[in-house]
Amino acid sequence: MNPILHCAGTLIAAFLATQAWAGPKADADIRHGRYLIATSGCNDCHTPGYMQKDGHVPESEWLTGDVMGWQGPWGTTYPANLRLLFGTLTEKEWLARARAPMRPPMPSPSLRAMRDADLRAIYRYVKSLPLKGDPAPAYVPPGGKVATPYFDLTPKNLPPVAAGK
Ligand code: HEC
Repeated sequence: MNPILHCAGTLIAAFLATQAWAGPKADADIRHGRYLIATSGCNDCHTPGYMQKDGHVPESEWLTGDVMGWQGPWGTTYPANLRLLFGTLTEKEWLARARAPMRPPMPSPSLRAMRDADLRAIYRYVKSLPLKGDPAPAYVPPGGKVATPYFDLTPKNLPPVAAGK
């Protein structure tokens, strides 16, 4: 065989062998990350319309953030566009961010309780999705002007004792 062709063939074979070796583990992480996202409720808030449509939103829209705010005593918060966020974070930075404080109604305790391996799988899944959408609107402190639609989570009809506290 022509030595150049032979050399190219060996390189291609070596490349394919590396891919075969890296592939299944990487795929398993991505599949596990997708499973965690689908079962942990992340889409309910971070995917537009997901809760309202009982989850019938194509995966191509998942985790692109929402302009629908969540208003309560903490002010008004917006579920981040996780695709764009993960595009700016290394895996190590993500592990730190996942354990840093976040405002309601983000279920921070659930995220903090995840093992590193699960958080890494989430990272790998989200990174496998194409960048899409715009950043969510900025947080508005209590009493600030809110220009977007929002859910009102202000506690109402509290018993007099609790209300007086
Ligand atoms: C009930 C709604 C809700 C659910 C469910 C939810 N989030 Fe959030 N998430 C939010 C809101 C609102 C914010 C913005 C909080 C803030 O402004 O501090 C947020 C913020 C975040 C942030 C921080 C973004 C940044 O800019 O640093 C990350 C990361 C995140 N969510 C990931 C997740 C993941 C992963 C899940 C599933 C395990 C999840 N969220 C489930 C509402 C939700």
